[in-house]
Amino acid sequence: PDLADLRGRRIVFSGYHAPRLGEIEAFHDAVLSLDENGVITSVEPKRAPDGNTEDAIRLPEGWLLIPGLVDLHVHAPQYAQLGTALDVPLEDWLQSYTFPLEARFSDLAYAEEVYSALIDDMLALGTTTALHFATVHVPATKRLAEICLEKGQRALIGKVAMDDPTQCPAYYRDASPEAAVDGTRAVIDHIRALPGNDGLVWPVITPRFIPSCTDTCLEGLGQLAAKTGAHIQSHISESDWQHGYVQDRCGCSDAEAFERFGLMRDKAVFAHGTHLSESDMDLMVTRGAGVAHCPLSNAYFAGAVFPLRRALEKGLRVGFGSDISGGPSGSIWETARMGIAAARLRESGTDAATPPEARGTSERRIDFREAFHLATRGGAEALDLPVGAFEPGMRFDAVALDPTCPAGTVRLWPENQGDLRLEKLLYTVSKPNIATVWTDAQARSGSTRA
Ligand code: GUN
Ligand code: FE
Repeated sequence: PDLADLRGRRIVFSGYHAPRLGEIEAFHDAVLSLDENGVITSVEPKRAPDGNTEDAIRLPEGWLLIPGLVDLHVHAPQYAQLGTALDVPLEDWLQSYTFPLEARFSDLAYAEEVYSALIDDMLALGTTTALHFATVHVPATKRLAEICLEKGQRALIGKVAMDDPTQCPAYYRDASPEAAVDGTRAVIDHIRALPGNDGLVWPVITPRFIPSCTDTCLEGLGQLAAKTGAHIQSHISESDWQHGYVQDRCGCSDAEAFERFGLMRDKAVFAHGTHLSESDMDLMVTRGAGVAHCPLSNAYFAGAVFPLRRALEKGLRVGFGSDISGGPSGSIWETARMGIAAARLRESGTDAATPPEARGTSERRIDFREAFHLATRGGAEALDLPVGAFEPGMRFDAVALDPTCPAGTVRLWPENQGDLRLEKLLYTVSKPNIATVWTDAQARSGSTRA
């Protein structure tokens, strides 16, 4: 069949989704109907025996459909240094590698090259929604939004605000708090007015982190958030150094400081949170804010393991973030696998010399079902977007997996039935197994015929 444009069509498929934490729903020969805009109008988990599906598009035998993956934390310019410079502390990494790299995005041609490659590669991995930090530059940030719209990634994009001359180098910062706020406003207006942008690309108010922004800048961005209702993103309580810096400067935690500046709201997603206290998490829950859990990046820079299970128990909104390039992989598959492993290490502890009962914290694990939810609907909920599950009213952002593809790494055996089959896929899928990737029911990567 022709898979390029599924708008207005009915699709017969098998697959999985996880609309609620810990619950997997499997589809066998299910029928999903789409309207002319790519919105799901109905899903019948099993095709009625007498159901007429002659006019429907039938996905190839063996293919499995899952919702598109959501990445809640990407530094788009840092794609150029992915998999490098991971052996120094955060504060050195920023000054020695990251700020010099990001400063290059004053060059639009370079920005175009890196951003185009990034969006192609993310889509090919099945990441249909991403929350991006760009750089301080307004023109390159606008260009990133246009590239996402052209290529069809559902994307939330922010011009990075960073104006504090004591923390940001002269060659890479906003010239003033006003420049940071005005530039942010300009990008919001640009993205909202992009022709053909029907809920695909969104603007985000993006203070880099509290250390890089003056109080005046943070206050201005808080006011802009109230005025525009735009999404917000930043880093929160990421490392001992960063957490301590905010405590010294503001006399409170990151979460309390964001609250003071009017930036702790719903549709706000904060990366890392490894050093959040119980009361910080409670405040975030009350405000409806979310956390981008970046387990790969945290292993390199955070100095602590995010208390994921605790956050989920509290009802905090959580999804996964690759944190390109704080983590060495841009894949949400890899990130989710590390997320499960990190939770297990939090549970077991690390040091065999400690008696088992004193080693870790009991019942801190998450399993593949919960990881699958966080990678799909969990991330979408944190962004308040109608994607991440196959339910009426949601947009059709989806990934078709071909487990039998010879170049891939999935080997299915008769033993791998039911949820075990999904577990096998989550752990072993590699790029060649990702057959087709759609957003708004239009193929954006992979095969358009099957
Ligand atoms: N804190 C401030 N900027 C950054 C960044 O680019 N990456 C990470 N991981 N943490 C940050
Ligand atoms: Fe980051």
